[in-house]
Amino acid sequence: MNNRRFFLKNFSLLTLTGFTSSHLLEAANTCKNKLTPKQSLGPFYPEKFKLEKDADLTQLRGHKQKAKGRLVHISGNVQDEFCKPIVNAIVEVWQACYSGRYNHPSDTSEEALDPHFQYYAMMKTDSKGKYSFKTIVPGAYKASPNWMRPPHIHYKVSLRGYQSLVTQLYFSGEKFNREDGILNSLTLEERKKVIVDFKKDNKGVLKGNFNIFLKKHSL
Ligand SMILES: [Fe+2]
Repeated sequence: MNNRRFFLKNFSLLTLTGFTSSHLLEAANTCKNKLTPKQSLGPFYPEKFKLEKDADLTQLRGHKQKAKGRLVHISGNVQDEFCKPIVNAIVEVWQACYSGRYNHPSDTSEEALDPHFQYYAMMKTDSKGKYSFKTIVPGAYKASPNWMRPPHIHYKVSLRGYQSLVTQLYFSGEKFNREDGILNSLTLEERKKVIVDFKKDNKGVLKGNFNIFLKKHSL
C-alpha cells in the first residue's frame, strides 16, 4: 500500500471511531491537567542572598554543627504541560528552620533562629529535568493569633519561555493542613498536587517526591 492510501485508510478509520485531530492534540497535552497550582510568595522571600545557596540546607560551610530538625530529602522532575522535561530550570526554595522562624527581617517571631541552617537554596534541573535537595522539616508557625501555618516549603521555579511558578509544598498528615487558609484556597484536586507523602527509606531518612509542571509561554 502506498503512503497516500495508507494515510487515507487510517484517517477514515480514525474519523469513523470519532478520533479527530482535537483528540490527537489532547493526547499530546496529557500533562495539562497536572499543572502545579500557584500559591502566594509570602512575606519571607529572601531580601539578601547569602553566599551559600547549594542544595544541602542542613550544612553550612565551615560549620561543624548541622541544622537542627528532622532530615528530609526532596526531589522531583520539572516538566511542561506536554510532559516534556524542562532542562536548566531554576528551582529556588526557602523555608523556616525547625522552630518555625525565617531568617528575614519581617519575621517578628520570638522563636530561635538556627545559626546552622541555610534557609534558602537555588538549583538548576539536570539534563532530565530533575532537581533534588536536602533539608529539615520546617516548623509550623503562627501567622496570626488564631492561625498556625503548617510546615511548608516555598518554591519559585522559572525559565525563559515558561510562566514562572510560585508555590508551596506541604507535608501530608500535618494537623495544621486542615485549617490553613492558604492551602485551602486551592481546590481538593489542586491540594493533592502540592501535598507530598514522605516515606522513610531503609536508613530512616524521610524522602518525598514533588514533581512540578510549568506552562509554556504561548507564542
Ligand atoms: Fe511560609
